[in-house]
Amino acid sequence: MQTLPSLPIGLYTAPYPIVQGGMGIRVSGAGLAAAVANAGGIGVISAVGLGMRSPYFDIEEKNPKLRQARFFEANRLALIDELQKARVLSPEGILGVNIMVAARDYETLVQTAVENGVNLIFSGAGLPLHLPGLTAHHPEVALVPIISSLRAAQVICKKWQRQYNRLPDAFVVEDPQSAGGHLGAKAEELGDPAIGAEAVIPALVTYLAETFETPMPVIAAGGVYDRATLLHALSLGASGVQIGTRFIPTDECDADLRYKEFHLHASPADVVLVPSPVGLPGRALRNAFVDRIEAGEAPGAKDQCFANCLQVCKFRDRRETYCILRALDRACRGDVENGLVFAGNHVGQSDRIQPVAEVMADLVGA
Ligand SMILES: Cc1cc2nc3c(=O)[nH]c(=O)nc-3n(C[C@H](O)[C@H](O)[C@H](O)COP(=O)(O)O)c2cc1C
Repeated sequence: MQTLPSLPIGLYTAPYPIVQGGMGIRVSGAGLAAAVANAGGIGVISAVGLGMRSPYFDIEEKNPKLRQARFFEANRLALIDELQKARVLSPEGILGVNIMVAARDYETLVQTAVENGVNLIFSGAGLPLHLPGLTAHHPEVALVPIISSLRAAQVICKKWQRQYNRLPDAFVVEDPQSAGGHLGAKAEELGDPAIGAEAVIPALVTYLAETFETPMPVIAAGGVYDRATLLHALSLGASGVQIGTRFIPTDECDADLRYKEFHLHASPADVVLVPSPVGLPGRALRNAFVDRIEAGEAPGAKDQCFANCLQVCKFRDRRETYCILRALDRACRGDVENGLVFAGNHVGQSDRIQPVAEVMADLVGA
């Protein structure tokens, strides 16, 4: 059997070429990240909205300014807690944090992560053009932009080189045609093969090899759920894969058991695209929440924007779509019919909720 390569990124080398994708809100916290890191992959905590159900925040706070300030402070404190928990659970593992550029507390979360022992920062949902400046005092932290096009990678490399004399330590290429969560393409573009991983990964690998002396691994995200799909991604030139959906029905995933069971019993036929307040669509599982959106209703239309969490938000600015923070949070806490359950195209690959170590063994063919 073909031996899988290890995955070197910056100062760190994961024994297996597997990154667990950051999954908000609280789907990938310390529990899942530490388990993946202990099993030889890279475990990633999603920093988005961590404060929401933390002891540091009360959504019922009446003063809007205070509520907003407390939300951001709660995110910071909850990220510290989560990193500390993960490090206790995985003293030697490689741990990353996923931080969305689109978050209004992006800079604070980046600073918090690097000051609290994170090994890598994964950053997408916008171009992380200023990331090296924010982390300059912690050069040991590897920086990994998440992109969906060659053009985005080129812009980042040029900007980082010119302004910071630094290059990314790796790239994650998120395939909008298969990955769970927010997509880096509009719904009408999804049929175009030019935007898929099959086209973008080889083009990016060639560009990086021809342009820079420093090797920059490319990590394929989207649609990887077993050894065969992992090997296929490597055959395109990727050095590793990033996996989200397959890690959800696991003992260590941080979501409610009902969320994991909803994923477990779902099949690819249940996967739909939903509009999101950030503008681009998301890939999720059909449920009552999605049915209501498709029927033209606006679930939670009377909800207040309680945190002003995103740079761009159609719900806050135009009362369109829904509050994504509440929708993701509701689902993750077990209300899987009235919340938003993100999932990739290849959901339903496990036959039971398993320990992460078993999923990893399946992926690596051990
Ligand atoms: C439930 C869920 C939540 C996600 N949340 C985030 C997130 O907060 N930030 C992010 O960059 N990617 C997010 N993603 C994308 C994953 O990190 C990963 O790249 C993706 O799931 C890979 O595709 P796969 O689901 O087919 O394995 C999410 C995916 C899922 C399924």
